[in-house]
Amino acid sequence: MERFFVGPSGPLFGRIEIYGAKNSVLKCMAATLLAPGDHLIGNVPAITDVAIVRDLLAAMGVDCRHSGSGVSGRLGITVPTDVVPIAPYELVEKIRASIVVLGPLLSRYGYARVSLPGGDDFGHRPIDMHLRAFEELGATFTTEHGYVEGRCDRLTGTRVVLEFPSHTATDNVMMAATLAKGTTVIENAAREPEVTDLADMLRNMGARIEGAGTSRIEIEGVDELRPGSHIAIPDRVEAATYLAAVGLAGGEIELLHARADHMEMLLEKLALIGVHTVDTGSSIVARATHPLRSVDISTLPYPGVATDYKPFLVTMLAIADGVAIVTENIFAGRFRYVDELRRMGADITTRGHHAIVRGVPRLSGAPVRSPDIRAGAALVLAGLVADGVTEVAGAAHIDRGYEDLGGRLASLGADVRRGDA
Ligand code: EPU
Repeated sequence: MERFFVGPSGPLFGRIEIYGAKNSVLKCMAATLLAPGDHLIGNVPAITDVAIVRDLLAAMGVDCRHSGSGVSGRLGITVPTDVVPIAPYELVEKIRASIVVLGPLLSRYGYARVSLPGGDDFGHRPIDMHLRAFEELGATFTTEHGYVEGRCDRLTGTRVVLEFPSHTATDNVMMAATLAKGTTVIENAAREPEVTDLADMLRNMGARIEGAGTSRIEIEGVDELRPGSHIAIPDRVEAATYLAAVGLAGGEIELLHARADHMEMLLEKLALIGVHTVDTGSSIVARATHPLRSVDISTLPYPGVATDYKPFLVTMLAIADGVAIVTENIFAGRFRYVDELRRMGADITTRGHHAIVRGVPRLSGAPVRSPDIRAGAALVLAGLVADGVTEVAGAAHIDRGYEDLGGRLASLGADVRRGDA
């Protein structure tokens, strides 16, 4: 099993490019199911999650060709007139985001059979909001043998009020509504920049969408869409990872393409902690002042501080001056990596969805295991400020969302290498 070996590092200097947003690219891939023909998505990173969704589309009869990497990564997707509208267990099990094929399949083919996603490292993650919204648009569902089977005649636009601004439910309903009869309004919609990016791709395909990026999205259904071409926005969570790296290790780095306007609240928190950023318009320049300072953090839907940033923030707070309370409001179970940080000497107590982080001067290298994409990356970052060698097992988890995390950190001067156990 491959792992990262990390030694004490810093300060970091240099410049790297921020690649395309995973959580935008995956949805844009699903959106291609809405129109037969040749689609093109640019700025597609070479990450495992993209490969899994490519396999999922291939299982439906869709041809996907990924070429290049980083900002030059391109995905050519050819959708036939008829696809096999089934998302099998073996693939859905690997990636929960595959639920986003449900909306496009129902809307275009009137039928979809999608394996129910199980629990994951964040705990129980239901899809009830997706199903309720599709029922309101006219679909009916049965659940058997671990699969949810949906049927509909043409979906009919209506007003859908989401109980919570779920990111993926917003994506799913927005995609389905593009081909519905009449107008759909999504109230309490998620406002993440990736939702806006998906809406841009859909509009490029001929969809009529207004209000993406606000809590009220209005979609006027059309009879058919055409193939689209789209360049994905930069990944704000990848950018946050490197901001935390410089925060921990010190130095000054420039993140090309990173969008400060997509991460305002995070940048405010980082400034309080001691990571100072300048928005150049085409990049973010970041430098750290030590010692880092503790600050309380609560995760919230966008534009709040994203839950995906939390493992990096907790790692910084673990060596900051003072005590911080971190509250998780999105995924109740998203503190699992804290046990691994504790093995590295962090002083963190968790109570329900709160963590109390008491800063210590330095961490201590240890063998640890990556529980998920972001927590895995955070453990690699923790190794930068730990004495001795930190061995992060489960590099495959990290590869799901990062193209060459180790090589890119090393290019900034970090002591990170990758190898077999
Ligand atoms: N929820 C329900 N019912 C539903 C849908 C969601 O109860 O039908 C709950 C969830 O259990 C959770 C909350 O609503 O408590 C919010 O979940 P949301 O649906 O917004 O999350 P998601 O769309 O499944 C996306 C990202 C996550 C990111 C979250 C929060 C993708 C593929 N995933 O998940 O990213 O953490 O939004 O911003 O877009 C990652 O990139 O590694 C990742 C996990």
